Amino acid sequence: MPGRRPGSLGGMDLQLSGQTALITGSTAGIGFAVATGLAREGVTIVLNGRDQTRLTGARDRLLAAVPGAEVRTVAADVTTAAGGRRLLDAEPDVDILINNVAISDFATFAEVADEEWLRYFETNVLSSIRLSRHHLPRMLARGTGRMIFVSADSAVTGDADMLPYAMTKSALLTVARGLAELTRGTAVTVNSVLAGPVATEGAIDFIAKAAAEQGRSAAEVEAAYFAEYRPTSLLRRPATPEELASQVVYLSSPLAVSTNGAAVRAEGGTIRTIG
Ligand SMILES: NC(=O)c1ccc[n+]([C@@H]2O[C@H](COP(=O)([O-])OP(=O)(O)OC[C@H]3O[C@@H](n4cnc5c(N)ncnc54)[C@H](OP(=O)(O)O)[C@@H]3O)[C@@H](O)[C@H]2O)c1
Repeated sequence: MPGRRPGSLGGMDLQLSGQTALITGSTAGIGFAVATGLAREGVTIVLNGRDQTRLTGARDRLLAAVPGAEVRTVAADVTTAAGGRRLLDAEPDVDILINNVAISDFATFAEVADEEWLRYFETNVLSSIRLSRHHLPRMLARGTGRMIFVSADSAVTGDADMLPYAMTKSALLTVARGLAELTRGTAVTVNSVLAGPVATEGAIDFIAKAAAEQGRSAAEVEAAYFAEYRPTSLLRRPATPEELASQVVYLSSPLAVSTNGAAVRAEGGTIRTIG
């Protein structure tokens, strides 16, 4: 099929062709990059977002990048029970579930109200749990499947200035590890990925806005961010969405069966411990 490049990761055949993947929050950013990476491996893609027009645009962009790819779309706000149900009704069986949707922002601890803590939990954790509760038993019954939670370095670095977000990303590590325990003796795996800063469209806009407000260049704002918030980063720049996605694509592969219950680091070396 033109445009598809099975084995595009270093010539390795990832054996993903013919599988189906649902990626929540995939009209842009990391989700879209994961969708594109999986489509290149011959995976049928289910894109998800809240708006059908944006989904159609994302589908067109994906098909331009990977001509001949199989792409379906489901408009559903996964942060509501009804939205989650709509997504499950539309796509009840997938081989690969990427739990990617999340909100994030800076927050001053003393000013975060109960409702805001609950909003973070519902959006970043409960939305994934609803989908996993449906899909994990089906994967276990088939004996194969991949579930990946997109977490963040904030899950383990204790980011005091974005605690509601960090709390949800820690929770996902616990959920992923617990679900992996249920896969014993099967070829199903459940992992989480610890992303560091990623240069998504949203992140680039955020930096450009801050640069304009501060009368500095985007490069200066980015350097200041790393100096203040990620001083131990070895990469010293945001990863590209494609760099982060390549880790997720590999974990989706049958070849990654021995990586299970892991919090896989793709955070640019920020976390300084070995284990
Ligand atoms: N970017 C980073 O630097 C970074 C760092 C560490 C971890 N992460 C994690 O990576 C994941 C993706 O982040 P990102 O930066 O790529 O996000 P993003 O650029 O903000 O993309 C968000 C995507 O999610 C969709 N979306 C948002 N709310 C939704 C909802 N309620 N239901 C369905 N779709 C929804 C959006 O689609 P519509 O707007 O079309 O609905 C869009 O496709 C998150 O879990 C985030 O915490 C990101």
